[in-house]
Amino acid sequence: MQQTMFPLADSMRRLGTESAFVVLARARELEAQGRSIIHLEIGEPDFDTPEHVKEAGIASIRANRTHYTPAQGIAELRDAIAAYVKRTRGIEVSRHNVIVSPGAKATIALTLMALLNPGDEVVIPDPAYPAYRSIVTYVGALPVSVPLLESKAFRFDVGTLEAAITPKTKMLVINSPHNPTGGILTRDDIAGIASIARKHEILVMSDEIYNRHCYDAEFASYYGLAGMPERTILVDGFSKAWAMTGWRLGFGVYPKNIADAVGALMLNTVSCTATFVQDAGIDALVGDDRPVQAMRDEFRRRREVLVRGLCDIPGVKCQTPGGAFYVFPNVSAIERDDVKLANYILEEGNVAVLGGSTFGPNGKGFIRMSYANSENNLREALKRMRAALGRYKP
Ligand SMILES: Cc1ncc(COP(=O)(O)O)c(C=O)c1O
Repeated sequence: MQQTMFPLADSMRRLGTESAFVVLARARELEAQGRSIIHLEIGEPDFDTPEHVKEAGIASIRANRTHYTPAQGIAELRDAIAAYVKRTRGIEVSRHNVIVSPGAKATIALTLMALLNPGDEVVIPDPAYPAYRSIVTYVGALPVSVPLLESKAFRFDVGTLEAAITPKTKMLVINSPHNPTGGILTRDDIAGIASIARKHEILVMSDEIYNRHCYDAEFASYYGLAGMPERTILVDGFSKAWAMTGWRLGFGVYPKNIADAVGALMLNTVSCTATFVQDAGIDALVGDDRPVQAMRDEFRRRREVLVRGLCDIPGVKCQTPGGAFYVFPNVSAIERDDVKLANYILEEGNVAVLGGSTFGPNGKGFIRMSYANSENNLREALKRMRAALGRYKP
């Protein structure tokens, strides 16, 4: 098809992209040429969705639960989510606070659209999951970056965070455990952030999608802090904990008036989340939790393999991250241009990884690698990287 003469909306120029999907496409091209690539670029568990969840989805289709639902989600799932929030964060919410979505990414986008006016400032960690910045700029608001520091295990300096707040700041986005670094905010960090949010009257959007992937300490939920839910939005979902990326199921928990606004956006965009997917989500929450715990334990083992292997490669410095399923090694002693180095590792080493600066300027000199891949593949990837980096000429 020819290009048309009709211009796109100006706002499209403000929309970002996600390097994981771009690198995945290039890796697939190389595979089509017959190359064997190890995929450490994409953030999705390699496990199958637990059997009982799949069975619930299949039974729902067989029962002809294949029609529209209310835009906010079915009452039974919203109740199950409210109970899950109570169980995991200790906070009492009702179904009226919960909006079900086709993935946490949709929750993030519609929440930002519901709340931001042009010119509002939103404080975002740097590096961060790219969708925050992309949608903030898309709606005409202004992202303000606050660095996560390698020297602080990729946590904020709380003083620097407070200095970034101006009278125009409407919201702060936090994400712990964190993509792309695997860093975790401590209880002291979240208490410090809460007192800043209270003092400056700002909303916090807490993306806790990796809350089931904490390896060394119990998860410290920002949403779970007493007195904060009136000024906090919780983002969570099923993709990571239940290995359900392709089902598309997430949720947000909000003060009631914000929930109503996000529900109205849901109605105007997707109408609702697939009915049988929502039914499967209920089983994920109320059914056997052992598969989720088994996946977490396996991720913990793989983390050790990957960190140890990376630390053995000359020029690579890798911390042991506390959560999620990513490592964020510092490769600046080999090459400051992380995107160039990530391309080299793919083209010459047949391992797909992401440049850290694609998550924000402060990621420069780092690469992100996901350990959502088998231990054998991780060992092979380490071997290939060691060989390729040994031949690297800056
Ligand atoms: C921090 C973070 N939030 C949200 C999402 C979106 O997850 P989904 O839309 O699959 O629920 C991701 C996925 O990579 C993520 O890393």
